[in-house]
Amino acid sequence: MSTARATAPVLELAGIGKSFSGISVLEDVQLRLYPGEIHALMGQNGAGKSTLIKVLTGVLASSGGEMRLAGELIRPGSPLEAQQLGISTVYQEVNLCPNLSVAENIFAGRYPRCGIAQGFRIDWGTVNEHARALLARIGLDIDVTRLLASYPVAVQQMVAIARALGVSSKVLILDEPTSSLDDEEVHKLFDVLRRLRDEGLAIVFVTHFMNQVYAVSDRITVLRNGRWVGEWRAADLGPQALIAAMLGRELAAQSARPEVLPSFDDTATALLQTEGLAQATQLQPLDLRVRAGEIVGLAGLLGAGRTELARLLFGMETPDRGVIRIDGQVVSFASPADAIRHGLALCPEERKTDGIVAELSVRENIALALQARMGTAKFLSHAEQTALAERFVSALGIKTASIETPIGLLSGGNQQKAMIARWLATAPRLLILDEPTRGIDVAAKQEIMEQILKLAAAGMAVIFISSEMSEVVRVAHRIVVLRDRKKVGELPGGSTEDEVYEMIAAA
Ligand SMILES: Nc1ncnc2c1ncn2[C@@H]1O[C@H](COP(=O)(O)OP(=O)(O)OP(=O)(O)O)[C@@H](O)[C@H]1O
Ligand SMILES: [Mg+2]
Repeated sequence: MSTARATAPVLELAGIGKSFSGISVLEDVQLRLYPGEIHALMGQNGAGKSTLIKVLTGVLASSGGEMRLAGELIRPGSPLEAQQLGISTVYQEVNLCPNLSVAENIFAGRYPRCGIAQGFRIDWGTVNEHARALLARIGLDIDVTRLLASYPVAVQQMVAIARALGVSSKVLILDEPTSSLDDEEVHKLFDVLRRLRDEGLAIVFVTHFMNQVYAVSDRITVLRNGRWVGEWRAADLGPQALIAAMLGRELAAQSARPEVLPSFDDTATALLQTEGLAQATQLQPLDLRVRAGEIVGLAGLLGAGRTELARLLFGMETPDRGVIRIDGQVVSFASPADAIRHGLALCPEERKTDGIVAELSVRENIALALQARMGTAKFLSHAEQTALAERFVSALGIKTASIETPIGLLSGGNQQKAMIARWLATAPRLLILDEPTRGIDVAAKQEIMEQILKLAAAGMAVIFISSEMSEVVRVAHRIVVLRDRKKVGELPGGSTEDEVYEMIAAA
């Protein structure tokens, strides 16, 4: 199972344990990293990947076990200490400051200083020069004095890597670095990773995109329920065997899509209809029809205008042209609260900024949107909230110690499931899902897709946005294709991924 190597591991973890208030999250976990390899750390949502990374990088103290870096026992007490030892990390939620320059982001908190006793003045010339040198190492040549926000997410992601890398880095850890990148940007990131690997770095990479694992990884370690399952060469562990190792069982064959797509009465009034809906910089005039029970997929590349359309429909942005009709009646939403009152729901892409309230419990987070819909006249009782939360925790398989646990303590994927639960709880007539399966493991992805199909069959209308084209073509009854903030056409359900890509390319 393990691979024979000429060199010794650069980093070796053995017997690692971690528990929170008596609940064991990691038990007897091991990890071996060799210089010059890209190593995928895999496991279901809540398996313990991020926790292992936090132990390894000094964010959390382990409850047992040992770590060796180049043969020496280490016990980093903080991320800074880990970084000084040569272990660099980019966490699941990138925490950069969009309003600072690229160079400021790279050096925030550790500026080279000049002046008497080196204590007084930040030496901007040196800061910018160092920033340029660090970016050059990963093959990026950009103006470091410009604001970070002025660059695409992929570049921001690479800036995060440059920030993490020190001159003496031996290990680079990336926890779900690709969740908000499109295919082309992922390729660029992978080029950077390969370049660093070829320089001799050991790279740990966490992802829920199976194709990415095989695109870049040399070896794979799998965790399940906080335990080590095994370590393989990527070439020796096919996708099905990998999934089986993660789940501890085979993944049920994907239920075939319905043979006959539901037919919709074209003369009937649509649940939601837009005519020439537009917003100066966000969207070109767009016509859209969504009928009860219909799943409309929005396909397009990053920046195509999918999220912008969703935000306009949900009253988060104000259109400056066109109309929105609900059941044929023209409506105008001053805020999401108006949209919610009309039976709409939007599960946003950015769960961290638009979604979760970290310090509230799972129960409170799930009940939030339904309470907002009911207004201030009536409050959901504690018992009602409990019943609601328990129903969805079980329906979506949310892994949490209890529904009273602060949601911030859940794993990333489980927070995402709770966000979907929040909007399903409002029993909307039209649910807009923006990247609902981002950060969600293979098994949970399948469950969520099944739920969506079931709810549509029961009459709910759905607008489905996903960067994973395979998901869009699988669930959608109709596909609306966007490019450069403009609708370029529609395709019927059952179309292939290639047909969608062709339409995008032809536009
Ligand atoms: N500070 C904490 N207190 C209590 N429990 C925690 C804490 N941090 C993590 N956990 C629990 O540890 C388990 C493992 O979480 P972790 O974030 O490591 O999962 P993960 O494998 O990274 O999952 P995902 O793929 O969803 O990101 C989860 O059940 C989580 O709720
Ligand atoms: Mg995680």
